[in-house]
Amino acid sequence: MEVYLHLLFFEKNMAVRIVIGAQWGDEGKGKVVDILSAEADYVVRYQGGANAGHTLKFDDTTIVLHLIPSGMFNGNSKCIIGNGVVVDPIALVEELKEVESLGVDLKERFFISSSAHLILPYHKVLDKVKEKNRGSDAIGTTGRGIGPAYVSKVSRIGIRMLDLLDMASLEEKVKKNLKDINVALKNVYGEEPLDGDEMIAQLKPAVEIVKPYITNTTEVLHDALENGESILLEGAQGSLLDVDHGTYPYVTSSSPTAGGACSGSGIPPLAITHSMGITKAYCTRVGNGPFPTELEDAAGEKLRKNGQEFGATTGRPRRCGWLDLVALKYAIRLNGMNELTLTKLDVLDDFETIKVCTHYKLDGEKTTVFPLDTEHVERVKPVYKSFEGWNTSTRNISNFDDLPAKAKEYISFIESYTGVKFTIVSTGPKRSETIIL
Ligand code: IMP
Repeated sequence: MEVYLHLLFFEKNMAVRIVIGAQWGDEGKGKVVDILSAEADYVVRYQGGANAGHTLKFDDTTIVLHLIPSGMFNGNSKCIIGNGVVVDPIALVEELKEVESLGVDLKERFFISSSAHLILPYHKVLDKVKEKNRGSDAIGTTGRGIGPAYVSKVSRIGIRMLDLLDMASLEEKVKKNLKDINVALKNVYGEEPLDGDEMIAQLKPAVEIVKPYITNTTEVLHDALENGESILLEGAQGSLLDVDHGTYPYVTSSSPTAGGACSGSGIPPLAITHSMGITKAYCTRVGNGPFPTELEDAAGEKLRKNGQEFGATTGRPRRCGWLDLVALKYAIRLNGMNELTLTKLDVLDDFETIKVCTHYKLDGEKTTVFPLDTEHVERVKPVYKSFEGWNTSTRNISNFDDLPAKAKEYISFIESYTGVKFTIVSTGPKRSETIIL
C-alpha cells in the first residue's frame, strides 16, 4: 500500500467524517472514500441507492460500485449499507458477486441495515412509466426505482430488509402493494399489470444471498462510537441534488447533505467531526434541470472528452461547464464543510483559459446567493473570472510543490473565495495520482 495512505491524515481516534458531493454528483467521491478508507474502521453509505456509480481504479482494476460502500478494497474497514439507503436486492447480489470475484471476503466485513428499504421490481417500472408520462418535464432519472421506493417509504407501505427474513410475510406484503400499483399501471399509465408470483420467484434467489448480511447496523455504529473507532460516511449524488436543498424538482429523492448522513445511519449530529466536500475543478450535471455555468460549445465538449464525462450508471453524456463558486459556497454552508477535495484538476491541463463563476446576475442585479427558486436558477447569468491555463500535464503529480504555479493560483483562488482549504487534490483516477495536503 502506498506510503501516503499512512499519513496522519485520518486521525484514528473518534474521527467521524462525512464525504459529500458539493455539486450535482459525480465529483469523484468513490476515489476519495477508497483512499480514506485505508484508515477507517467503518465506511457507511447513508442514502440513495443503485443510482450512484462510484468508480475505483487501483492496480489494473476498475470497478464501479453502485450500492456497496467504496471502502471494500483498501484496508479492512467494515462496510455498511445504512438505514437511509434504498436497496435493490437483485442489483446488490450482482455487485456482491463482482466484489467477491476480486478476492474480497465479505464475511464479517459487510452489513446491511435491517431497516433499509427495498427497491422492488415494481419501483423500477414505476420510475420509467412516470418519467415517460412527464414528457418534456421529465427529471431524467437513472431509472433505478429510487423515487418510487422513497415514496413507498414515506407512504408507510415500504418493505424493509428485515422483511426478507420471513418469506411468507414478504410475499404477502409485495402482493398487497401490487394491488394498488397494478390499478395505477393499468388505468393511469396504460401499462400491463405486474405478476406477484413472478416477482417473488425473481426475488427468492437474491433474498437467500442477501439475508446473512442483514443486521442492526445502528447498534453496530453506536458501539463503534463508544469504542472510539473511526467512521467514514459516504454520500452519494451531490448537495445540489438534495430533495430539500437542491434544484427541486430536478433532484434525487433523498438527502445527500450532512443532515441525511445522520438520519441515514443513526449517527448523532454531535458525533460528526469532519465534513468534507468533494468538488471537481469544473462542473458537471447529468439529467435535466438548471445548470448556470453549462457550456454548450467546444469548451464544454473538451471538458467532456478530457474528463470522460459519461455516467458511471447510465452511460449518459454528462453536461459540462465551468466551476461555479456561488453553488460551491452554498454547498459548503449547507453542510458545514470544513475541508475540501479538488478532483480532476488534470482535465484542465490543456485549456488556454479557465473560467470560474464568482457571482450571478439575476434580472441585471448582482448576487452571490444560490436561488431557492429553480426558475431563478434557470434565469441567472454567470459572471466569470478568467485564469490563464497552465498548459502542462499535472497527471500523476502527488506533491503540491510540483504543480505548475498557475494551477496553484487557481486552487488558492478557490480557497480564498470559499474560506475552506483543500486537504486532497486529485490529478488522475488512480490512487497514486493524489496530493495529500
Ligand atoms: P434518480 O436519483 O434516479 O431519481 O434521478 C434524479 C436526478 O438525480 C437525475 O437528474 C439523475 O441524473 C440524478 N442522479 C441520480 N444519481 C446520480 C449520481 O449518482 N450522479 C449524478 N447524478 C445523479
